[in-house]
Amino acid sequence: MPSRNGNLSARAAGGYPATRMRRNRQHDWVRRLVAETILTADDLIWPVFVVDGDNERQSVESMPGVNRFSIDLLVDAVGEAHELGIPCVALFPYTDPALKTPDGREAYNPENLVCRALRAVKSAHPDMGVLCDVALDPFNSDGHDGLVDGERILNDETIEILCKQALVQADAGCDIQGPSDMMDGRVGAIRRTLDDAGYEDAIIMAYAAKYASGFYGPFRDAVGSGGALKGDKKTYQMDPANSDEALHEVALDLSEGADMVMVKPGMPYLDIVQRVKSTFAVPTFAYHVSGEYAMLKAAADKGWLDYDKTMMETLMGFKRAGADGVLTYTALDAARLLKNQG
Ligand code: PBG
Repeated sequence: MPSRNGNLSARAAGGYPATRMRRNRQHDWVRRLVAETILTADDLIWPVFVVDGDNERQSVESMPGVNRFSIDLLVDAVGEAHELGIPCVALFPYTDPALKTPDGREAYNPENLVCRALRAVKSAHPDMGVLCDVALDPFNSDGHDGLVDGERILNDETIEILCKQALVQADAGCDIQGPSDMMDGRVGAIRRTLDDAGYEDAIIMAYAAKYASGFYGPFRDAVGSGGALKGDKKTYQMDPANSDEALHEVALDLSEGADMVMVKPGMPYLDIVQRVKSTFAVPTFAYHVSGEYAMLKAAADKGWLDYDKTMMETLMGFKRAGADGVLTYTALDAARLLKNQG
């Protein structure tokens, strides 16, 4: 069989004027006919922030258009996402600072905000998938994803807490557990814990290749972990210089039982998305993170970019790179546009 490159060069040899690339771009119908990548609402996961209270909607300053919802309004918002055909939401709690401790024990309180939100969302919208992070940063007074001992982030001690966190979330109805902490061995430990408790069908989406990124800043405002954070996350999140290492991380998480893997952030890491998808051929997701959203919004608010166009182009880019789906704060906006186009 001729190689893909062989085919391409054979075609290119014909060249202009016999070959005119613009023929297939002349009309909307032919552009649709030859389109290689399709984006639908099925490809979207909507991350939403939750806060305590009633009828509470707080805007997140560094993420224009994004809110923290109290559980009652969250249920309505998830209903809207459901109606738009979005298959899954990701819940992120803004934890009362008074509940944050160095040991992050609020993470495994079955009555914590995220568990209450899970129960409310799943009982109102049982057909909606719900993903929750497994990590300590919303609960930890140090703002880190793991337990802190002086300068060190403790690996194995953190995993014990993550397992307890995954269990209370599973009890509350969480469909997909998303370990986002980057501790070594946590996927295997969480898998065993869930299986031992009878949750063999609980899905794990591993934040497998998660980089130590400057693009998470607005998210940390949204969940209130930014102020608390001492230092950085470079001893557990990946170095943006590395690519082979991402494949190693993904291989380990898959061998430990991950059902889906994620690359994060998104736009600056599309090469990683492509390598992961082409190497492993497993469900691969990209997180279009808070800072990427903030960039689009800020430029659009100044009138420098067309939000709808650049957003849809961004999401298409993820799909073209090989992502099966995208976690994005633009999910509702994108789904509305897709619905109007369809
Ligand atoms: C926490 C977590 C982060 C994000 C998702 N889960 C931030 C971090 O690791 O500091 C970032 C999401 C975003 O920026 O949109 N473990």
